[in-house]
Amino acid sequence: MAQELLPSAQMQRRKLLILENDRGLRQELEQIFSDLDVTSTETSEEALVLVRRLEPDVVLFDLGAAREPELAQQSLGLLRQILNLSPDTKIIAMTEHDARELAVAAVGLGATDFYHKPLDGGVLSIVVRRAFRIRELEEENWRLRERTGSMALDGIIGVSDSMRAVCRAIEKVAPTNATVLLLGDSGTGKELLARAVHRLSGRSHLQFVAINCAAIPDNLLESELFGYEKGAFTGAAKTTPGKLEAANGGTVFLDEIGEMPASLQAKMLRVLQDRTVERIGGRTPIPLDLRIVCATNRKLDKLIGTGEFRDDLFYRISEVAIRIPPLRERQGDSLLLAQVLVQEMAERFGRPTRGLAPDAIRAIQAHGWPGNVRELENRIKGAVIMAEGSVVMASDLGLEDPGDDPEYLNLRVARQRAEAQAVRQSLAVAGGNLSRAAKLLGVTRPTLYDLLAKNQIDATQFGRATNTPEEPEA
Ligand SMILES: Nc1ncnc2c1ncn2[C@@H]1O[C@H](COP(=O)(O)OP(=O)(O)OP(=O)(O)O)[C@@H](O)[C@H]1O
Ligand SMILES: [Mg+2]
Repeated sequence: MAQELLPSAQMQRRKLLILENDRGLRQELEQIFSDLDVTSTETSEEALVLVRRLEPDVVLFDLGAAREPELAQQSLGLLRQILNLSPDTKIIAMTEHDARELAVAAVGLGATDFYHKPLDGGVLSIVVRRAFRIRELEEENWRLRERTGSMALDGIIGVSDSMRAVCRAIEKVAPTNATVLLLGDSGTGKELLARAVHRLSGRSHLQFVAINCAAIPDNLLESELFGYEKGAFTGAAKTTPGKLEAANGGTVFLDEIGEMPASLQAKMLRVLQDRTVERIGGRTPIPLDLRIVCATNRKLDKLIGTGEFRDDLFYRISEVAIRIPPLRERQGDSLLLAQVLVQEMAERFGRPTRGLAPDAIRAIQAHGWPGNVRELENRIKGAVIMAEGSVVMASDLGLEDPGDDPEYLNLRVARQRAEAQAVRQSLAVAGGNLSRAAKLLGVTRPTLYDLLAKNQIDATQFGRATNTPEEPEA
């Protein structure tokens, strides 16, 4: 039963601290929980040191009897201190069977659960494992919140100003029927954003049809898009509607529109002007209700200059044009994406990878990312699969560690830079949440405020929330 509460593989990494002054009992408890990472002590001084150092997930704390009120008060004081030091730690208050009030007081102060002696290994085991489960659920919840906090739009990760601006533009334009042109280099997320336009529009319950104009040979693209009547050409055995018609009511994503052949550009212009489609060999225009989103990584103005792209079509498709910046221009995004992707890939491939080594962090920040997010995704995927240890190293990513530049030889400058970088990084990971960022850095919130001022960092750049609701501004 107890095993069902948490798979034993996960229990292995869980830290339990036992605080019990009876030596025999302590040994018995260590025995019961030998499958966990157990540390035990009998003194309150050492308990505080251990809590600070280990940040245990669960503390099994023998409060003793309630017969001596002074001792009981001391125990409750210690409990409070433990929770102050490590607020996420779950405390199980163990008491003599006649010390009900003491147990209740402990829970009132923040203990997760209580247990009355005498010792019954089976029952206590359930109580302890339940506390670990609560801790685990809280952590899971944190991860989810952290993840959504670092999303500029559902499913789109980014903390940079430039990506936020893109997402705000998408949010605004999505509910309208405007034709959107997404401009951006390969791998910047054009398709992801096209799907976001559809998802945030009133058409989200209908089809999203993506057509890659570069992937389909010119002669097939026309029948693919417009369909054909029976007998329109050799091989047209039966009347077949095209993709535009099939998407009626929904959204059509014309990817790589810059590659569309000239003959089709004229036909496409008519679709946009008249909102009708005519099958090949057909005579009657069929009315269409379509949202059209286009994308290209080509410079359309150049193609217009050389006559390869019609300017009238360009004006039609770019009612709203949104430029998606390359990854190297998105301050803070590459690292954040890398961190989220490491977790995702580790989960997907069942690997124990947990994070990025310092040399990987430096390499990610120094790399130019010519293949943008797609390149990052591929490198992280490969690294997570190949990494030997629990962290991804620069070499796993196939990147060079840029090392410290010569300026770092000046210790004061080096410290200052490292400090500013750590602050930015923690804010990025915490989605701008100051309490969380301070916790990640291991400093108090006032200290974090000082660091922000000293390094001229604007925390609001990194996210919406500035403080967790449970920890109101002091
Ligand atoms: N901001 C982002 N957050 C999370 N994932 C992203 C982001 N941007 C891109 N991706 C992911 O990166 C990959 C490439 O994105 P996408 O296919 O949308 O780019 P693209 O601009 O269409 O690329 P291409 O020009 O190569 O077709 C996808 O797997 C996508 O999910
Ligand atoms: Mg694409």
